Amino acid sequence: MKYRIATLLIAAGTAAFAHTGIKNEEVLARMDGMSAIADAVKVIGTMAKGETAFDAEAVDAALSEIEARAGEIPVRFETEIIPEKSEALPVIWDNTEDFGDKARALETLAAERIGSVQAADDLRPLMADIAGACKACHSEYRE
Ligand code: HEC
Repeated sequence: MKYRIATLLIAAGTAAFAHTGIKNEEVLARMDGMSAIADAVKVIGTMAKGETAFDAEAVDAALSEIEARAGEIPVRFETEIIPEKSEALPVIWDNTEDFGDKARALETLAAERIGSVQAADDLRPLMADIAGACKACHSEYRE
């Protein structure tokens, strides 16, 4: 499968930020968590595009960040609150187990790939797998 990195970044959901106007602190915290994940994915994505120099340590740091933030997703989404402008879908709270599984899938993927990236050629398949894990959750639980 061949995807352009730009497409993968969009699939990962790193293109849209909808914070404006949200005041609820729990909602802001969960959005900030997602933004931090997106920032870490961007580090890998821009490197995969050749826009930044290959740096295996920076990739590992980004993967650690994704692992840690993904681990926080289930707790961050414990309370059902969907203010206007939130993109969270109510089905999250009908399927908390599956939602948690999808968060853990991303957490595990990131953890397993730490130390695995040896060369720039490894970045593209990594991006495809990460984008797949984001999309698996967003396609069901994000507007
Ligand atoms: C387990 C589910 C799940 C996974 C996995 C997940 N997300 Fe999300 N994401 C959500 C939900 C739900 C929202 C909507 C939150 C809201 O608007 O309250 C969201 C929102 C976002 C947002 C918008 C945040 C904002 O400021 O409005 C970005 C960016 C994002 N995700 C990026 C990612 C990236 C990148 C990945 C993969 C590396 C990822 N997400 C993985 C569930 C997930």
